[in-house]
Amino acid sequence: MVTAQRPNLRTARRAVLVSALLVGLAGGMGLGQAAGPVAASGLFGGLREPGQAGFIAGHRGDRSVAPENTMPALQAALDGPMGFVETDIQLSKDGVPVLMHDAFLDRTTNGTGRVSDFTVKQLQKLDAGAWFSPEFVRTRIPTLETLLVALKAKSDSGEPKKALLELKGFWTTDEVRIVTDLIGVAGVGSLVILSSFDTSTIDHVTQVDSSLPVAIITSSLPRDPVAFARLYGAVALITNQSAVEQDQWVVDRMHRAGLGLVLYTLNSKAAWKSALALGVDGIITDRPNRLDHWLGSATEK
Ligand code: G3P
Ligand code: CA
Repeated sequence: MVTAQRPNLRTARRAVLVSALLVGLAGGMGLGQAAGPVAASGLFGGLREPGQAGFIAGHRGDRSVAPENTMPALQAALDGPMGFVETDIQLSKDGVPVLMHDAFLDRTTNGTGRVSDFTVKQLQKLDAGAWFSPEFVRTRIPTLETLLVALKAKSDSGEPKKALLELKGFWTTDEVRIVTDLIGVAGVGSLVILSSFDTSTIDHVTQVDSSLPVAIITSSLPRDPVAFARLYGAVALITNQSAVEQDQWVVDRMHRAGLGLVLYTLNSKAAWKSALALGVDGIITDRPNRLDHWLGSATEK
C-alpha cells in the first residue's frame, strides 16, 4: 500500500488541461516556455549512475552532534561536507512555521501537548536541547525563517547548500503560502525542495508557486512511480530501502524519465553500499559525516 494518497484523476485532468493551455500560449502567442521548477538533474548536480555517490542530506540537521531540528544541528549540517539539510515544518497556533518533527512537544522539548496549540512565542520559551545533552540546555525551537536566513548566508559566503523542507501533515493553500512567501523573501527559491507524504499538500504547493520544486515522500512505491511523480509535478520521489528492493528497476525508470530518486533514512554501511550500487541520487541520513567519509573511501579509484 502506498502511504502517500492515490493520484486524483480530477487533478490529473486539470494538470493536463493547464499544461495544454500553457503550451498553447507559449506556441501561439510567442511567450516562450512556461516557467517551472528546475529539473532533478539541475537540483541534484546530475542524476547518478550505479556506483556513483549521491548527495548527502543531514536528517533533521546533523542530529548525531546536536538536538534534531535545532539551529545547532541544522547549522552543523550546513557547515559540514553534505550538500543538503533535511528538516520538518509545522505551524504554530498563530501560523508561524517552526521546525519540529513530532506533532507533540513531549519527546524533544520540556513542553507537553500539540505544537499547533502553542503560539510561536510560547514555543520559543521551551527547552529543545536539554533532552539531548547538558551542552544544549536552553536551545530553542527554531522558526523556518531562521533556517532560511542561514541558508542564504551560506550561499552568500560562496558555499551554497540546499534544503529539503518537509511539510508535516496536511497543509491548505493559505498555509503553504506562508512558507512560500518566506522562501521568496529570503531569496532562497533555488536552494529548496518542498516535500511531503501528503499529495494534496504537494498539489497545494504547485498551485501556490509552480516554480518551486516538489518531491513526494512515500514509504512504498506505486506500480508506476514515473506516472505518480509526473501526476504531481514532482522532480523526485523520496522513499525507503525496502520499497526500492521490491522494485529493482525503479531508479533506472525514474532516471530515464529525468526524475530523481532519494532514499531515507539510511544509517548503516550495508544500506549505504546498497544505495551506492543502485545509483540513487541522494541519501538522507542521521550520520552525514560518517556517510561522507564512507562514500569517499567506497568510491575512490
Ligand atoms: O524526508 C524523509 C524523511 O525525513 C521522512 O521521515 O519521519 O523522519 O520525517 P521522517
Ligand atoms: Ca522529515
